[in-house]
Amino acid sequence: MTHVIKGQTLSFGDTCTDIRYEERGAIVIADDGTIVWSGPQPLLPHAFRQHAVEDFGMQLIMPGFIDAHIHFPQYRMLAAPGKDLLDWLTRFTFPEESRYADAPYATAAADKFLNRLFEHGTTSALAFCSVHKSCADALFAAAEARNMALVTGKTMMDRNAIPAVQDGPETGARDTAELHARWHGKGRLRYAVTPRFAITSSEAQLKLSGELLQSLDGALMQTHLSESPGEIAFVKTLFPDAQDYTDVYDRFGLLGSRSLFAHGIHLSERECERLSESGSTVVHCPTSNTFLGSGLMSMPHLRKAQRPVNLGVATDIGGGTSYSMLATLGEAYKVQMLGGYKPSAYELFHMATRGNAARLRIAHETGSIDTGKFADLIVLDPWATPVLASRQDVSNSLEDMLFSLMILGDDRAIRATYVAGRKVHQRISSEA
Ligand code: GUN
Ligand code: ZN
Repeated sequence: MTHVIKGQTLSFGDTCTDIRYEERGAIVIADDGTIVWSGPQPLLPHAFRQHAVEDFGMQLIMPGFIDAHIHFPQYRMLAAPGKDLLDWLTRFTFPEESRYADAPYATAAADKFLNRLFEHGTTSALAFCSVHKSCADALFAAAEARNMALVTGKTMMDRNAIPAVQDGPETGARDTAELHARWHGKGRLRYAVTPRFAITSSEAQLKLSGELLQSLDGALMQTHLSESPGEIAFVKTLFPDAQDYTDVYDRFGLLGSRSLFAHGIHLSERECERLSESGSTVVHCPTSNTFLGSGLMSMPHLRKAQRPVNLGVATDIGGGTSYSMLATLGEAYKVQMLGGYKPSAYELFHMATRGNAARLRIAHETGSIDTGKFADLIVLDPWATPVLASRQDVSNSLEDMLFSLMILGDDRAIRATYVAGRKVHQRISSEA
């Protein structure tokens, strides 16, 4: 049924300075889950005035958050106390991911995982699965049932792990091609070729990954790059002929406009130049980077005007410590402040919505409030907690409201979540 939701509405165009805001806005959502009209309430066309209305008053309706890097099979292992990245992977992560060989386990976990994303206001994601085909099948099926724009893929990893989470170059490539054929383009689903990182993929596997990226129609590529000093040193020993970490991927044709690299903390000028000219994206994962002690990623370094690298932002669950993109933006702010750069709230909210949509190549269908796009929306409650409520007493602008939400907010500030026009989450209790 066509319905109307009302509230403050905010979304962005291509840049964070292109702000579309209505203090008393309305959005009309059609049966098929798309937006058919949005604008100021007084201009709501007569044709839509007889439809059911949900009025959120002064609450803030925005596009749902898009998480550009998250690990589904790590959904319950947050806060695993590793010494550093490699220790954390070996002692906690690989054993946990081995459970996803079991299809019923993966299916039950996929439901919990996606519902948790919705509770935190995330409506789309680029996600890693485990190495097991059953894991990717489970997540794709759960996302399809929710009519969600999800990009994911089976992780490929053929060395330096434990046998229970390893494949081989040929089996990994065959499974990838089969999963792409089964799921890519079905509903709102997309496939991402997913070599875990240079440490766990042999040259043969990276070569096949590059070939898959070229041959699989419309597929993205996701991996990790330049996260921790120990990781970078290990990569050097594995690929002594490569110029640097980025060059390892570059040699196998893995850079490009469909490629997303998580972290990118310790990149040289040369690496940034290659990432920039190839149109690749680096995804900032601040809560993971501080939790694992990996380092402080610098947005201004990556975005230097003469060789700007595309940036995304993400939780990196379970290295990351919060599902909330609000909390993630708050931590991104703090990490950048430690590097001497003060991002604006508009810049960060843009990254988490329209910006990440562009990076995932789904901006034609989600990430903003525009006619023809799916109604993937959240209702943010700036008064959700006592602390937020009293903070709003001294808030003097829209940007300040957003700023307070990202510094003080989390899942408690997500009043409701809509995916393709359907309400998939509504917060019951308010603490205010
Ligand atoms: N590098 C390779 N695998 C992983 C992972 O699962 N999490 C993080 N943070 N870094 C990685
Ligand atoms: Zn990761």
